[in-house]
Amino acid sequence: MVGLRGRCISVCWHLDSKPTEEKARMLPAGVFLVLSCWVVSLVLGVPPIETQPEQVHISYPGLHGSMMVSWTTFSEADSMVEYGLLGGKLFELVAKGSSAVFVDGGSEKRKLFIHRVMLTRLKPGSTYVYHCGSEAGWSNIFYFTALNESSDWSPRFALFGDMGNKNPQSLARLQKETQVGMYDVILHIGDFAYDMDEDNARIGDEFMRQIESIAAYVPYMTCPGNHENNYNFSNYKNRFSMPGDTEGLWYSWNVGPAHIISFSTEVYFYVDYGLDLIVKQYEWLRNDLEQANKPENRKSRPWVITMGHRPMYCSNNDSDDCTLFESLVQLVEAYNFVLISGVDLELWAHEHTYERLWPVYGFMVYNGSKEEPYVNPKAPVHIITGSAGCREKHDGFIPDPRDWSAFRNSDYGYTRMQVFNSTHLYIEQVSDDQNGKVIDSMWLVKDQHGAAAWA
Ligand SMILES: [Fe+2]
Repeated sequence: MVGLRGRCISVCWHLDSKPTEEKARMLPAGVFLVLSCWVVSLVLGVPPIETQPEQVHISYPGLHGSMMVSWTTFSEADSMVEYGLLGGKLFELVAKGSSAVFVDGGSEKRKLFIHRVMLTRLKPGSTYVYHCGSEAGWSNIFYFTALNESSDWSPRFALFGDMGNKNPQSLARLQKETQVGMYDVILHIGDFAYDMDEDNARIGDEFMRQIESIAAYVPYMTCPGNHENNYNFSNYKNRFSMPGDTEGLWYSWNVGPAHIISFSTEVYFYVDYGLDLIVKQYEWLRNDLEQANKPENRKSRPWVITMGHRPMYCSNNDSDDCTLFESLVQLVEAYNFVLISGVDLELWAHEHTYERLWPVYGFMVYNGSKEEPYVNPKAPVHIITGSAGCREKHDGFIPDPRDWSAFRNSDYGYTRMQVFNSTHLYIEQVSDDQNGKVIDSMWLVKDQHGAAAWA
């Protein structure tokens, strides 16, 4: 086919050198060949460069002054990030990392090279410009701001779950808001792409290209959902780079005045992948909450926030687990850690709706007071935000909300959260269906954190 392209170019060039009448006589054939050439080019496109980086995204590895840059190539290449402070000399710093081969579980056994480079000694709060790749191909240029390491600042989050490759309705608004600097962190609370392993993981590739426009600019922190379950969550485990050594199944990290715990609700549902995961996660969660709750730690990071995909409570009508009183995710609550450790806020997705709950524990509502339910509440507050948009569209609600349901809405959208300081946390829900209108908001105010707050 390259020969045909070459022949097209040569005929076009040849036509220019002919006398006018001869040109006119040859024109139909010439036009045909030029058109053929154009069609062939359209069909063939540009030959793929398999060492060209794509699907660039960043995450916070949990170490002071660091940021992980991850990307994909389709053949082997070096792993480098060239970067520098915004306004300084471009690419004056270089960091090197490595790549790991990920073989998808589908019939084609497609092979992806997942590159990871950790940037260290970043200046907190400074903005860096970077590209990644190797001498065999570089990415576009992106930028990010290194996280402020102190506990005395007010990080801003975008939160959502259940965003798909098809119908990711909230993505455009999130792209613009991320790129103008409205967020410090994005939390994607499970269910990606629908599904990353489909079409021999090409859907995963497409999705990771789609989210590059947000995930290459701010740390994109994740937890697994049920749509990641195929081949033992291998697409999830390989494509994302979360802190810790569990391939992103469970981990925790600190940002501003918050300690954030991400865990897998899926260990309770996909037990074929190992009952031991339930035990391991249990041990880890107990230990992590014990550490987070030590007086010196709780003093600097007073807010303890969890995120997991499937909610404990909901009032949807799809007969899903959270509508049942014997919900498997209730096991987490049954551990009692949540209460003993005084977890302040629990973030969920899975239901393709938004729902804000009253402070609830053991199916009982424990508002701070009748007038100010979220001022010094006596139980954790739950938010379900799984309406970013996917091919499964919306979920419905049961007609009569449960006792614990404070507000619910099924518009496509996402949640904004800001942890202002040690006592004040703000949450608002954005409706994409209503052109970005804020349809719900809440101030969670806590003068005291930990188990003592429940007294
Ligand atoms: Fe889900």
